Amino acid sequence: PLVSATEMLQNARKGHYAIGAFNTNNLEWTKAILKAAEEAKSPVIIQTSMGAAKYMGGYKVCLNLVQNLMESMNITVPVAIHLDHGEYDHAMECIEVGYTSVMYDGSHLPFDENLEKAKEVVAAAHAKGVSVECEVGSIGGEEDGIIGSGELADPEQCKQMVETGIDFLAAGIGNIHGSYPENWAGLSFDRLKEIADVTDGIPMVLHGGSGIPLDQIQKAISLGVSKINVNTECQEVFAAATRKYIEEEKDLQGKGFDPRKLLAPGTDAVVELVKQRMEWFGSTGKA
Ligand code: G3H
Ligand code: ZN
Repeated sequence: PLVSATEMLQNARKGHYAIGAFNTNNLEWTKAILKAAEEAKSPVIIQTSMGAAKYMGGYKVCLNLVQNLMESMNITVPVAIHLDHGEYDHAMECIEVGYTSVMYDGSHLPFDENLEKAKEVVAAAHAKGVSVECEVGSIGGEEDGIIGSGELADPEQCKQMVETGIDFLAAGIGNIHGSYPENWAGLSFDRLKEIADVTDGIPMVLHGGSGIPLDQIQKAISLGVSKINVNTECQEVFAAATRKYIEEEKDLQGKGFDPRKLLAPGTDAVVELVKQRMEWFGSTGKA
């Protein structure tokens, strides 16, 4: 069933595992993520960035796609459809359209404004049973053209943000979007612990999940991370499998150029990666 992310993340937090939130871009990725979740018997969050939703034809198309595929694929595991890094207007639109979860990302705004807008989004969302994620501090690297500074979240600000009534919190703890540089210092577990101590058991979100070593993922989960966002790694395996198919000239054999054949290896690679990450995050078998 299509559900808000609140309950699945609370269960994850209590059960010491995390739910993967995977970004989709099109039909193939959406099918791949749903297939992986069903095979792994894992709850899952399918998320669209503002850019990906625009590419796919709008939020309504994304929502209908997920809903219709869940029906035709006989999906039995809990699925949330979530707006990733949304501006205020986009979060409001998604709540209106029927998304079951939204991230309002005001992390680049002055903190007071971030807080005020968060309250408005929470009020609109909770009136419709939609879950809300907000961000404090900054995730380093680029997403949808917005470059984050990577500044660590201030625990006091995290506490204030949680008091707005949000359902889960994204806090900058040294995590970065995209691939991690050679000299990356790793996640700041001290800061994560300080934030967890003052935020009353709220599920925490780890952005930039691609490229974080398993031991750091596990430690982050043990300290309260319950949602892990993965985007770049899916793109990498999709591109690599597609490149291999073309370099082996399979597109030149038989009807190999048929888009259904051309896109299959990449799609299969996304299924495998998502299942593997569910295994890492401990959500396999939790549906
Ligand atoms: O919001 C999306 C994520 O934080 C994805 O980060 O592309 O580094 O996996 P990633
Ligand atoms: Zn992110």
